[in-house]
Amino acid sequence: MSLLIAPSILSADFARLGDAIAAAERGGADLIHVDVMDGHFVPDITIGPPVVRSIKRVTHVPLDVHLMITDPDRYIEAFADAGAAMISVHVEVLPHLHRTVHAIQALGAKAGVVLNPSTPVVALEQIAGDVDFVLVMSVNPGFGGQTFIPHSESKVREVRAMLDRAGNSASVEIDGGIDQQNVGRVVAAGARIIVAGSAIFHAPDTERATRELKAAALGALPSPAVPR
Ligand code: DX5
Ligand code: ZN
Repeated sequence: MSLLIAPSILSADFARLGDAIAAAERGGADLIHVDVMDGHFVPDITIGPPVVRSIKRVTHVPLDVHLMITDPDRYIEAFADAGAAMISVHVEVLPHLHRTVHAIQALGAKAGVVLNPSTPVVALEQIAGDVDFVLVMSVNPGFGGQTFIPHSESKVREVRAMLDRAGNSASVEIDGGIDQQNVGRVVAAGARIIVAGSAIFHAPDTERATRELKAAALGALPSPAVPR
């Protein structure tokens, strides 16, 4: 059973991104999560395709690009070209989500759809069979270092159940306020891609924080059935 740890570089020192990524990789990062913000969908402005292209050159694991922007259709090709292996888009800004998901896949990237805390799971019902992963936001997007919203745990269960009903083994990703204390609960609920920003890059030792978060997450996986 796969469980992936995806450190979010939003909380890293942007002047030393290469070093931050290397430390996270030494600690066992399976993906690097890149938060793209446009100053419209969320208040802040972060990074765009040229930075993703540079990060791609120094990163050994796939890039998981989370687009918190109002018009993702205009930019998915640029991010795929820059090296994004996974691209996720917010349901809240996309009236033609089915088209966008297939456009991402046609570019050779895995397509993820993201639910804000106030967006109901049913918003994905009709495309549950098409997505490569679903990202459940466990904080309101826009900033690192916020507190985990407890309701997100049951939402992960609900998304998992919806994907199962659709016959889709796509992973559920969780993003926002994840740390050593709560990671076990979200894994037990069914999350299999774990994003963490401040718990990794604001820790005194990035490599160690990554390793410890991963160990805590793996420890919460249901034990495999023992064959008799
Ligand atoms: C929030 C971003 C997150 C953020 C998580 O809008 O999508 O990826 O970096 O940071 P922490 O783990 O500090 O909540
Ligand atoms: Zn994110």
